[in-house]
Amino acid sequence: MEISSQTNLKTPPLIEFDKVVAGYTHLTVLNEMTLDARKGEITLLIGPNGAGKSTVLKTLFGMLTPRSGEVRFNGQVINGRTPRQLLSKGIAFVPQGRNLFGSLSVLHNLELGGLHLPKALLKERIAEVMELFPRLAQRTDSRAASLSGGEQKQLEVGRALLVKPEVLLIDEPSIGLAPIIVQDVMTLLRKLADSGKSVLMVEQNVRTALKYSDRALALEMGTLAVDKPAAELLDDPNLNRLFLGGHAAK
Ligand SMILES: Nc1ncnc2c1ncn2[C@@H]1O[C@H](COP(=O)(O)OP(=O)(O)OP(=O)(O)O)[C@@H](O)[C@H]1O
Ligand SMILES: [Mg+2]
Repeated sequence: MEISSQTNLKTPPLIEFDKVVAGYTHLTVLNEMTLDARKGEITLLIGPNGAGKSTVLKTLFGMLTPRSGEVRFNGQVINGRTPRQLLSKGIAFVPQGRNLFGSLSVLHNLELGGLHLPKALLKERIAEVMELFPRLAQRTDSRAASLSGGEQKQLEVGRALLVKPEVLLIDEPSIGLAPIIVQDVMTLLRKLADSGKSVLMVEQNVRTALKYSDRALALEMGTLAVDKPAAELLDDPNLNRLFLGGHAAK
């Protein structure tokens, strides 16, 4: 097993990108991207706009197929798997922005997230989500659009959790949320990681996110520039340059 020189390897990697080349029809974004993320940790992806952070999540969730290289989950190559197959393997994705059916109720939004589950099981899972998010439990019949921004993010995360994922991919959860609500969302992600799940998060609110994360990966033009424990990066005088662009200090 390869041991990273820059981080303390507590557990073997759950997710691995091995020299992954991926992108869009006329644009290669990930240039032999090599990175990993571990079980029970929040791994934070940072980097300037366009560095490829969202592309990493989309590739991991099967929305983009690598042109070369390997994406592995639990040691198994998952190149070319569809999002649906990956969901059933235990990977869930909460994309950037609002992803709810605003005119439908909280309950209905949750039901739509678990359509493939047997009815009785779905009911059970929804009850578990409600237990985790008492705010949602109080608003089951409210239209999703009437929830506050933080409650809507909770609903999105709750819906993703219906499949009991091992890994939660989440892209910029704090956008549009008041700082105090951002802390709530981060606390929730921390709890998930502490319960053994893995969280791979992209977040522009870097200082706050670092406080809740275990590890930080800074991307630069489609490659990994820095891989450090989050606490260490928080104290790094080069932090601003790492997520704003410019030459990264390794
Ligand atoms: N659907 C798409 N089709 C073509 N190009 C795309 C598409 N989505 C993203 N890109 C391009 O790929 C590059 C990387 O985009 P990506 O969304 O991964 O960046 P990012 O690091 O998430 O940036 P941001 O911080 O702005 O969200 C950018 O140059 C972007 O314009
Ligand atoms: Mg992005």
